[in-house]
Parts: sequence; C-alpha cells; structure tokens
Amino acid sequence: MRTRVSERSTRFTESVIREMTRLCQQHQGVNLAQGFPDFPAPEALKEAAVEALRADVNQYAITWGAKRLRDALVAKVERFSGLRYDPETEVTVCCGSTECMAATLLALVDPGDEVVVFEPFYENYGPDAILCGATPRFVRLREPDWSFDPAELAQAFGTRTRAIIINTPNNPTGKVFSREELELIAGLCRKWDVVAITDEIYEHILYDGEAHVAMAGLEGMRERTVVISGVSKTYSVTGWRVGWCLAPGALSAAIRKVHDFLTVGAPAPLQEAAAVALGLPPEYYTALADNYRDRRDHLVPALEAAGFRTFRPRGAYYVMTDISGFGFADDVTFARHLVSEVGVAAVPGSSFYADRESGRQRLRFQFARRRETLDAAVERLQRLKARVTSG
Ligand SMILES: Cc1ncc(COP(=O)(O)O)c(C=O)c1O
Repeated sequence: MRTRVSERSTRFTESVIREMTRLCQQHQGVNLAQGFPDFPAPEALKEAAVEALRADVNQYAITWGAKRLRDALVAKVERFSGLRYDPETEVTVCCGSTECMAATLLALVDPGDEVVVFEPFYENYGPDAILCGATPRFVRLREPDWSFDPAELAQAFGTRTRAIIINTPNNPTGKVFSREELELIAGLCRKWDVVAITDEIYEHILYDGEAHVAMAGLEGMRERTVVISGVSKTYSVTGWRVGWCLAPGALSAAIRKVHDFLTVGAPAPLQEAAAVALGLPPEYYTALADNYRDRRDHLVPALEAAGFRTFRPRGAYYVMTDISGFGFADDVTFARHLVSEVGVAAVPGSSFYADRESGRQRLRFQFARRRETLDAAVERLQRLKARVTSG
C-alpha cells in the first residue's frame, strides 16, 4: 500500500508533554507541564528583533549561522568557560538545540551504533536515536540525588558505542553533574573513543552554589565534545528557535551539512537579536538564577505540603516528585486527575523513562512561571489532598 508510514515513525509516540498542554487548555488549568516561561523576554532582545526586521534582515542567513551571532557566541563562551572556538569552522547555528541534537546524531552516528543516555531523560533523545538508527543504552540516575553507578556506566560502553548524551543541568531531575562525575564519563569517552554530546541548555540556571562544569574543558575532551545550547531557556525565548553546536572542525563540517539539508538555517532576524542577548552583562545571569531559585522555593514546599515527595532540583526549572502517597495506580491516571479535578497540569514521569514502569509513581512539574501563576497553582494544590481523600 502506498499510503503506509515509515517503520521508524511508528517506533515513538506523540509527545506526552504536548498532550498535557492540550488537556490543560481544555480544563483551563495552570500549566506546569511543558517547559517554557510565561513571563516576558528581556526588552533589549525584543528591541533588537524589531530592529532587525525593520532593517530588512528577512532573507536566509548563512546556513551555519549569521556571522554576528557566531562572533558573539564564541566571545561569550570564552568569557564564561575560557574555551575558545573558531567562529568560521567550529560553530553551527540551528533551529533550537532540538535541531542541534538531531543534526549532531545524524551527522555522527551510523545505524547499529550505540548511544549512551542517562535515564530519566529529556524525551526527545529517544526519538532522536531512533531517527538515526542508533540503539540507546540507558544508564539509570537514582533518587534521591540522581547519582549513577559507575560500574553500570562502564558496562554501557563498548566497541559499538559512538556517543554519550549528557544533559547538565538536567531535565527532568534538576541534577547538576559534578566535576568528578564528568571526569569519570570523560575517562570512558577517551578509553572507547566516544563523542560526548552535552546538552547545556540550562547552563545558567543553577542553585545552592552549584557550578556548571563544561565537559569540553576537561582533559582531552575539547576534541571529542559537541556542546549544544541555545537562547530558549537562558533568555526566555523558547519560540525563537535559535540554538547552536560547538564542535571541532571535522565534526562541525558534518553537522553543518546535515543542518543545511534539514532546515537551511535558523530565523535570520532572530539570530541578530540572539547576538545582542549574548552580550548581556554578568548581572543578567545572576538575576536569572536568583529568580528561578525564588520560584523553586515557592513551589517545592507547596508540593510537599500537598502530599508529594520532592527531589529538590539543583539546577534547571523542573522538580520531579514521588506520587506514591496518593495511592494512584499510575502516573498517567494521576496526571489526568490532577489536571481535570484540581486544575494543575504536570508531566507523567513515565515519559522520561524507556522502562516506563520506573516512572509510574513520578510526576514532573516546571516552575518557569510568573509569581501569580505559581500562586494559582499553589492554591489549587492545597485542595488536592482533600479531594484525593474524599474521592
Ligand atoms: C534538556 C533540553 N534540551 C533541549 C530542549 C529544547 O531546546 P530548544 O528550544 O533550544 O530546542 C529542552 C526544552 O525543554 C530541554 O529541556
């Protein structure tokens, strides 16, 4: 039959997160599911975007990124991590870090290769691996601190391993990988000749004195790391779709080719505005993290009071919770109850696990929300216990 779909497209399902967002709209709930801010972006960025449109920056940018953005990016990266990248050969600007990850895997991984992924994981990594024909090898992060067993990690590496994906600060757990943990991973990458693909999209959202350690800065890793990040989370503009990959020339050349044929380029006027964002002063980043810490410290105790067990995040803007106190059979039933009866949307934990059973008593909340939105959620959550016990 000519209307059949590809086998690979049947091997993953529609995003559960987006389903929760739809349900939330139906029930006029408070959306603490999908990870995007409901507060405005910095004025300077919006002005820069308007200016770029008025200046008629309306045509394709250079496929691997507007020069102004690449120059601003390498300067910012050097300021924060001391790492130097050549803007002419080592930077690829894509449509968000989502495209960066897909383009990187398609460029570096062959069918049959293995890619190590920490579990629970950001839900895109599974389909990304399937799309390029790779086999994911999952290594478990364990509560309460989401540490991994070094022996389990070592066992996941072998001759077929091509890459490992490390997301720090981490979605959904809020874990920030320590220098020791990254050293251990780096050692395995060097031993097995494996590329580290680091998703550093939450690099500036850190709490409690945590520091972001750049994998590419560790010994022998600059030449085998693809650093992925973007404007979405740091500058509160998830809809702009501007992200970037930093990688040695040979890897970048392959990533650029894939990127060119996937999307040609990221939105040209917004690349100009992104260049302005990358020049914001250090205080901007301090205020960003402080504001997120306040939001965390507002939501997490309210969740505890409502009957959730929480795993306190050290970075990013999510909190994973244990829902076993509520006596529901599984996370999806509970998430549906929460949105339809209480009016708060969250993401069922099983969507972050390949082994779905492991997430059956987990629910993830996001707190990139204005104070009023969080207040509304907190107020609704207070009604939860009463409803569960009476229902
Ligand atoms: C870990 C992680 N990586 C990537 C993304 C997507 O980033 P972008 O908007 O740059 O595609 C998200 C969004 O939630 C995320 O949580």
